[in-house]
Amino acid sequence: MITSKILHTIKPSLETSIGNITFSFPVCNGSGVWSSSRDELIKLGSSDAGAFVYKSMTIHERSGNPGPRMFMNDFLSLNSMGLPNKGVKYYCDIVNEFRKYNKPQIASIAGCSEEEYFTLFHKINSYPFDAIEVNLSCPNIVGKRVFAYDLDACSRILSKMRSETTKSLGVKLPPYVQRHEIEKMAKQLMVLGIDFVTLINCYPLGAVINADTELVSLKPNNGIGGLGGNALKPIALGQILLYNQYTGGKLNIIGLGGVETGRDVYEFMLAGASAVGIATTLLHEGLSAFTRIKRELITILKNKHISRLKDKIGTVRYWN
Ligand code: DHB
Repeated sequence: MITSKILHTIKPSLETSIGNITFSFPVCNGSGVWSSSRDELIKLGSSDAGAFVYKSMTIHERSGNPGPRMFMNDFLSLNSMGLPNKGVKYYCDIVNEFRKYNKPQIASIAGCSEEEYFTLFHKINSYPFDAIEVNLSCPNIVGKRVFAYDLDACSRILSKMRSETTKSLGVKLPPYVQRHEIEKMAKQLMVLGIDFVTLINCYPLGAVINADTELVSLKPNNGIGGLGGNALKPIALGQILLYNQYTGGKLNIIGLGGVETGRDVYEFMLAGASAVGIATTLLHEGLSAFTRIKRELITILKNKHISRLKDKIGTVRYWN
């Protein structure tokens, strides 16, 4: 009884790592949410977020698709943003100053061609970002393929980058629907020496229709967009479990997809995620979501008498 009381007052360690970077708290934003402009990034820096994940950068500034380009209800989000961002130079110009927030800074890059990926990579590789997340899964640009569905193209892009950087290098992937696709990708990422994988980007090609107005919810792409939010959680967990199994737990994972609570974060970490991102929740609730989730996570760890969260990564139990 006394021991349990003492354990309950000890603050558990929430520290975790992705590649060679350390998070003092494993929950960060999903790329693009609170991370597109300098003002948003300043607020993200002052929040309880464990890291910065910048909006996916393109070579030039983009205003993105025309609105309405985002729909949300209590269960899901649907977006067709079209990569609105300030262009790579803007983010390179602020990264040095933002080191004062003492959080890992993860650059996200999105090209429309292999050449564009290399141009973006060469630019950001010479700035003090702590890690690079190559977004090979943006679902919303008309006429641009989703590179992540072409394993050879992914390998060409990532192997060249791996040979040219010592920064933590990761890739953001969409959901796959067949086990063998995940197995091949997971094994290839290990062969290439990739440090982390962000799982998962939106589920592509979704739509929401309103029976009252008889309208699709989004204007761009004739109403088709990427599905996010709570509806995505079981899909994200399935993908994380499979990557973890196919890599023997050796590939760091940033889990993303429908995370709302500290309990969700704990479940994602049991499945094998070393860190977890929040996107739709952050849009709904704002930056105080990090503070709430941190409090919920600490309560779970205290109740379970766990002193180090990272000891739980990938320890989910299976039926015999
Ligand atoms: C956009 C890009 C993404 O990679 C994503 O997951 C969601 C939206 C976009 O800007 O269209």
